[in-house]
Amino acid sequence: MKGSRARATVFLGGGRITSALVAGLRLSGYGQPIIVHDRHAQKLRKLKRQYGVVIEHDLRRAVDQAHLLIIAVRPDGIGQLLDTIKYIKRPITAISLAAGVPLAKLRARLGPPVRWARAMPSPVCRGGRGLTAITFEPAVSPGVRRDVKQLFERVGQVIEIPERKFDAFTVTYSSSHGYHALAALAGAAQRAGLDRQTAMTAALWPTVFWCGVRARWHLMSCCGRLRLRVELQPR
Ligand SMILES: NC(=O)c1ccc[n+]([C@@H]2O[C@H](COP(=O)([O-])OP(=O)(O)OC[C@H]3O[C@@H](n4cnc5c(N)ncnc54)[C@H](OP(=O)(O)O)[C@@H]3O)[C@@H](O)[C@H]2O)c1
Repeated sequence: MKGSRARATVFLGGGRITSALVAGLRLSGYGQPIIVHDRHAQKLRKLKRQYGVVIEHDLRRAVDQAHLLIIAVRPDGIGQLLDTIKYIKRPITAISLAAGVPLAKLRARLGPPVRWARAMPSPVCRGGRGLTAITFEPAVSPGVRRDVKQLFERVGQVIEIPERKFDAFTVTYSSSHGYHALAALAGAAQRAGLDRQTAMTAALWPTVFWCGVRARWHLMSCCGRLRLRVELQPR
């Protein structure tokens, strides 16, 4: 396909974060073609069934159709993937989701005319209430930055940060922190004498409660403060 006709958003890697992003994009009414490439045919079939993505088994054909190319493989697989792509001869925006892989390393594998960005979304994008940090190579134009931001804004809030702060953001943002914190709290409660089920329920309850309040905040803020105050009463 000629560069000028390439207009799809293409995901390389059809795993957990691709599934979350595609779900969020569909929820937002995103109308551009979405193509996914992965080495597991079964994952691709599931994404096609659930979200109507176009599946592409051939890596080169997938890349050739991309306007935005989202690299969604695990960090230890990104080198091999980029080496297999080898070259891209037209201007294209590539967005790596890989944690801890700097722009310099990406550029060293796949140089100009590829314009590189990194993004760190979360699985919460699935429901359209995500938060995504984005960073760009310095030379990336304002128009390209706007395109990338607009894509992620469809699935939640977006913040642009300098790359030197990106890994700190990633570590702080990790969704596994919540689970570790709950497990540690429940473990401490068990050591203090609670049975496991009571300890887990007690540890989890404040989170459930506050998530409930937040969900209502979004609903109720449209409907006036009186109902919001009522909703803030503990159940
Ligand atoms: N999951 C999250 O919440 C999250 C959030 C932000 C960023 N990220 C980043 O997003 C990236 C993907 O994470 P994930 O959790 O979605 O991983 P994942 O569930 O393992 O999905 C990656 C998929 O890509 C496939 N793949 C890897 N190399 C490939 C290749 N050369 N050709 C074709 N397919 C290939 C994998 O197959 P195999 O399983 O056979 O390798 C797997 O199906 C990671 O770099 C991660 O740091 C993830």
